[in-house]
Amino acid sequence: MFIVFEGIDGTGKSTQARRLADHFRSQGREVVLSREPTDGPWGTLLRNSAQTGRLSPEEELETFLKDRRQHVEELISPALAAGKVVILDRYYFSTMAYQGLRGFDTAQIRRDNEAFAPVPDLLLILDLDVDTALTRIGARGDTANEFEQRSNLASCRETFLSLRNEPFARVIDTNASPDEVSAAILSALPL
Ligand code: TYD
Repeated sequence: MFIVFEGIDGTGKSTQARRLADHFRSQGREVVLSREPTDGPWGTLLRNSAQTGRLSPEEELETFLKDRRQHVEELISPALAAGKVVILDRYYFSTMAYQGLRGFDTAQIRRDNEAFAPVPDLLLILDLDVDTALTRIGARGDTANEFEQRSNLASCRETFLSLRNEPFARVIDTNASPDEVSAAILSALPL
C-alpha cells in the first residue's frame, strides 16, 4: 500500500504521517516512512536552497526530479515490491504545486513524474486555510522562508485541492485537533 501526504506547510503532514506509520506497525505491518525532498544529496541541496537562495526554476525542477528518481529506484519501488506499506510526506503533487508556481505547467509536471513515479493508492490532501497555516508555522518557531509566503501558500493550496476529484484522493480538514485529524485519516483508509 502506497500512501502520500500532501498539503501546505503547517497542516501537520509529518506528525500525521508518523502517526499513520505507528498505526500500521501496531498491526504488525512493515512500514517505510519517508519524505521529499529526501535526505539524499539532491534533497539536501534543495532543503539548503530554501535558506541560502533558490536555484533557478529550471535547475530546481530538475533537481526535484533527480531526487525523486533516486527515491523511487532505491526506496519506494523496492519497498512496495516487498509488500511493505510506504508512507510519504510530500511527493510529485508538491512539484505540481510549488514548481507550478514558478511558471511550469502543472499537467506537464504530472505527466513527467508519472512516467517514472508510481501513482499512490491513497493521496491524503491535508487542507487548512492559509491564515491558520501561517499562524501554525509561526507557532512552530520557523520564520516563513520563500517557500512559505502567503500568496504562494494560497496558490499551492488551490493546486492540491484541484486533485480532490481524483479517485485516489481524499481531502482531510486539519482545522481540528491532532487526534481528530488522525481519526479522519483512519476512516479514509481503504478497508
Ligand atoms: P518541507 O517538507 O516542507 O520541509 P521542512 O521539513 O523543512 O518543513 O519541504 C521543503 C519545501 O520543499 C516545501 O516548502 C515545499 C518544497 N517542495 C517543492 O517545491 N517541490 C517538491 O517537489 C517538493 C517535494 C517539495
